[in-house]
Amino acid sequence: MSILDFEPAIAGGIVILTVSVLTLYLRNSNRAPGPETFPGPKPDVLIGNVRQFPKSHYKDAFKAWKDEYGDVVHVRLPGTPVLILNRWEDADELLAKRANIWSGRFMHIMINDLIGFGWSILQSQPSPPFYEMRKVFRKVLGPNAIGDYDRLIEGASQELVKDLASFSGDPLPLLQGSIGKVIITIAYGEDLWEKQGKQLVKTNTDSMELVDYVFSQIWLVNFVPIARFLPSWFPGLTFPEVAKRGKDIFHTIRYSPFGVVKGSVERGEADFSVISKYIDDPEISQESLRDATAMMYFGAVDTTSTGLTNFLYHMLVFPDVQKKVQKELDDVIGRGNAPNMASIQTAKYLKATWQESLRLLPPIPTSVPHFSQSEDHWKGAYIPKGTLVLSNISWMLRDPRIWGEDSTEFKPERFLPEFNPRADELKDVESSIFGFGRRICPGRYLAERNGIVYAAAIMSAYNIVPPNGDPIPTSVEFTGGQFLRPVKLDIHFAPRK
Ligand code: HEM
Repeated sequence: MSILDFEPAIAGGIVILTVSVLTLYLRNSNRAPGPETFPGPKPDVLIGNVRQFPKSHYKDAFKAWKDEYGDVVHVRLPGTPVLILNRWEDADELLAKRANIWSGRFMHIMINDLIGFGWSILQSQPSPPFYEMRKVFRKVLGPNAIGDYDRLIEGASQELVKDLASFSGDPLPLLQGSIGKVIITIAYGEDLWEKQGKQLVKTNTDSMELVDYVFSQIWLVNFVPIARFLPSWFPGLTFPEVAKRGKDIFHTIRYSPFGVVKGSVERGEADFSVISKYIDDPEISQESLRDATAMMYFGAVDTTSTGLTNFLYHMLVFPDVQKKVQKELDDVIGRGNAPNMASIQTAKYLKATWQESLRLLPPIPTSVPHFSQSEDHWKGAYIPKGTLVLSNISWMLRDPRIWGEDSTEFKPERFLPEFNPRADELKDVESSIFGFGRRICPGRYLAERNGIVYAAAIMSAYNIVPPNGDPIPTSVEFTGGQFLRPVKLDIHFAPRK
């Protein structure tokens, strides 16, 4: 998938596009005095760095640019300046300390207006509805509420353990299925899961594929907004059809399950869920509860299952670490017992291993782009309003200035004071893999609990080994898109005797 493939639109559109790119280029060239900007690859006239911009494996291309140009790299895409940040402190400075400027999202006309995904917390600009949805997440999945879902997660982890009995192959689909069930049950309750769970999973999967596809193309309407008024029969125009399909899918996700649970609440028949518990909460509106909850599946499933897949990959290739994790679990919860949230609190080595796995293989290695909502001046450079910022967290989590000379090695001990006297000075991995500032992932407490309980349940029940007695693989291919995980993990879950 390329983020730079043009929609096969009308030839005339290309002319309009060229003119508009030229206009934007000239507008962006009209800068205030001061150093031009940060270094970066030399842009072409009109199209900027379109030719050089990576089409996949972004983290590797960004790392190569970092080596050549330094910590902050400037790239031009048509009409949009881009900064790539490679230093943790820089991401913290712009995205957290200057959050009033840097908390926007790219104004994607196709996604936001035509598909109508602009209502979602993911795509909203900072605004009253956005802050309301963030408030809902804080209330329903924040530190004070998160324990409400422990029993559900623990039960689901044991169901997964059963499904994995003597399984060989790639566990990703099983993990996605299990986490999908957890999040739909949390959001809408067990009844809804039983009656409509599979359909809702399918609609959400379709929505994620559609958004992935739409983000991977360059759409004429994003550059020439007036093109949205062209009739849908216009030759070569694909966006009206894609937009209609997207609209239908997101309408279902937004309204359908909420409507069902609301009906059950009104009839006094609803079981426990985020919706039934909070629907009459005077501090949050029903609309923001509905819209925040609608995005839970979208945010939770691929991210959490990718984190777990990467953990299992590390267990496969580091059998010594695997043994230490299992020994600790046996000591803490007792061999053969099912782990629960309370019993794994003291499993420090497991926690360190989970962190080390997230550090070396962060599920979203170049995070989610932020967009500046006003101009900024930083490090002597002028940064225009409408600049996109990408955080190369994959590099930040391997930066030897933070992690030391062994930064690329898998060593959970680095997080434990009994092995590393400087352990307490290390950065908190989770404060980068979940993003920064006002947009930091609002599902992070759930992700952490879900991840660690599943990891404990799997590791206390199984040895993670290659299938058919094969040797441990020495090289594994990783995905190059938004998510970072093995392309196809091949493992066997051998029951522990
Ligand atoms: C290991 C698991 C997860 C990872 C690595 C992850 C990572 C992220 C990242 C990097 C962002 C963007 C932050 C930014 O823009 O700076 C994000 C946003 C988001 N995440 Fe997560 N996430 C995970 C799990 C979850 C879960 C379990 C949920 C929901 C229950 C969730 C819901 C969301 C939502 C709704 C947003 C959009 C927030 C906004 O734009 O303001 N995520 N996540």
